[in-house]
Amino acid sequence: MTNKMLLVSSTFLHDILNPVTGVRIILEQVMKGKYGNTLEEIKPFLEAILQTNNRVSRLVESENKSDIVSINPSAVRSLDLLQVLARLHFEYSALAKCSSLNLHLEAQTPLVHGAEVIADVICIERMLSNVIQNAIKYTETGEVYIRLVNEGDNLVVEIEDTGRGIEPKELPKIFLPYYRLHKKSRGCGLGLYVAMMVAKSHGLQIIVDSKVGKGTKFRIIFPYTDQLTYGLNDKIWRKQEGFRNECKQREIS
Ligand SMILES: Nc1ncnc2c1ncn2[C@@H]1O[C@H](COP(=O)(O)OP(=O)(O)OP(=O)(O)O)[C@@H](O)[C@H]1O
Ligand SMILES: [Mg+2]
Repeated sequence: MTNKMLLVSSTFLHDILNPVTGVRIILEQVMKGKYGNTLEEIKPFLEAILQTNNRVSRLVESENKSDIVSINPSAVRSLDLLQVLARLHFEYSALAKCSSLNLHLEAQTPLVHGAEVIADVICIERMLSNVIQNAIKYTETGEVYIRLVNEGDNLVVEIEDTGRGIEPKELPKIFLPYYRLHKKSRGCGLGLYVAMMVAKSHGLQIIVDSKVGKGTKFRIIFPYTDQLTYGLNDKIWRKQEGFRNECKQREIS
């Protein structure tokens, strides 16, 4: 197996195993009776688990297993980004609760050009869930915020936590595959690599601000282009084609 194939299959397995681990954490707490014993009390946790199960099933059934930067045209559609965030907020609230954290969802109203985005829904869920999962994992106490706001005409997803933070000199390296800072926690250093690959393929930008001991904010920027859309458009498709050819050339040489 080539290094690239190994990386592609590792990222794919990563995005299946991480949610499965999250489900295990939730089930352990629910079975201990931490959130009550009646069906009514535990139902939100079961619904969150079901949602994770459905999300992972969609990923496993997707045809997008050969290259993580490639967009699957059959999965590209017009999405309401706020609805996607609301789904992930509901799903990850259960995991956050298991770590005694509050997970908030906030949206600017009105958004200047709405929340509609053209994107591969499976890729976008992979990107967002990896950043949200990190915010929960690297925060001991306090809050995690998911926000949808505008910066000028751009649409921006902010994921902010009150966790341990990242030293400035480490910030440029955290998106590299297999790069990890907080080695005591479990992981393999692939979540942010996946997030960055998805961002690049969709013409998005990810910016990180962090203060050690105070917290971290990831901003995922959907630029408002001259084609008056967020997400994929003709220009980005063409760039992505060029990028894929470049990767193929590198593999051959
Ligand atoms: N919100 C955050 N707060 C503090 N550190 C973070 C945060 N997000 C990422 N990091 C740091 O960046 C590193 C890389 O993150 P990444 O998600 O790629 O890998 P990981 O979480 O270690 O493992 P996994 O492969 O399970 O995602 C992490 O090891 C962690 O040290
Ligand atoms: Mg991670």
